[in-house]
Amino acid sequence: MTKILCINYSQSGQLNDIVDNFISPLKEVYIDRIKIDVKENFPFPWKVNNFYDAMPETVLEEPITLKELKFKEKKYDLIILGYQPWFLSPSIPTTSLLKNDDFKKIMKNTNIITIIGARNMWLNAHKSVTNHISQAGGKLIGNIALIDKSLNHLSAISIAHWMLTGHKTKKWGIFPKPGISEKDIKEVDKFGIILNQYLRKKNYIDLQKQFIKNKAVKINSNILFIEKKAKKIFIIWAKLIKKKELQGKNRSTYLKVFRIYLNIALFILSPILILFDIIFIRPFTQKSIKQEKKDFSYLNIK
Ligand SMILES: Cc1cc2nc3c(=O)[nH]c(=O)nc-3n(C[C@H](O)[C@H](O)[C@H](O)COP(=O)(O)O)c2cc1C
Repeated sequence: MTKILCINYSQSGQLNDIVDNFISPLKEVYIDRIKIDVKENFPFPWKVNNFYDAMPETVLEEPITLKELKFKEKKYDLIILGYQPWFLSPSIPTTSLLKNDDFKKIMKNTNIITIIGARNMWLNAHKSVTNHISQAGGKLIGNIALIDKSLNHLSAISIAHWMLTGHKTKKWGIFPKPGISEKDIKEVDKFGIILNQYLRKKNYIDLQKQFIKNKAVKINSNILFIEKKAKKIFIIWAKLIKKKELQGKNRSTYLKVFRIYLNIALFILSPILILFDIIFIRPFTQKSIKQEKKDFSYLNIK
């Protein structure tokens, strides 16, 4: 019987639901379902300061201690890895899992499918996750990325409301409901149905093609544009904050400045830059944008 390890972290439970619905149609397989946790959990709902405080270590991918991982098997035929991006990087619990020696051994020579539950910016995080998988000798065969489909700025406000109150509700009754829509979470089982057919064949060629045909990945040009620039800036901020802390300076002061920067970048600078790009650059770069989207849709898939 095909042995599957299905593993993820989730704060609100959203990613648990996504992953559970994805695997629900799988038949005649053995599934080891693990919901990971960290020793000192991040508070949910978040306090504003804690939220930004997680940025430097997330971006610099510093692992923390996970609660004991108990794999029922030594080896699996397939790993289904669910993860969420934080600050354009894998969430700290995901980084901690990807850097865990036992998990690295399990990834070696094993087929892996990633399933992402993001707001809408997962490209940089995915680059990093797929690199970790490759380094461990894992074989990525598919990726599904579920996102919040509301407009970028509205979804940023909605998700802040969700993360800071713990309520997945419409802020003031007027903003869009935060997170991935109930419909998309429910319908993720369509990808499980597709996977079922490939599990029976024991051959995963074209699995990602089938996932994509069913809208497993949708990349917005504006988000691609922002992500290409923002991660480099986040790394500079993360290193600066850590350096100042080492020099005995007050970390929280620098985090407050980062917070102001982030809000200005998100709500003022990025719309201006996007508009400039749409008018003056994009008309000439359509072909390369299309190619970049394709590359991301099949990133590191073997
Ligand atoms: C600290 C933090 C940073 C986040 N940064 C991003 C991000 O860069 N890109 C993105 O698409 N979503 C981001 N999100 C949203 C998460 O990826 C995720 O969708 C949300 O936290 C729900 O996941 P859960 O299942 O763990 O509750 C962030 C969330 C948190 C808590």
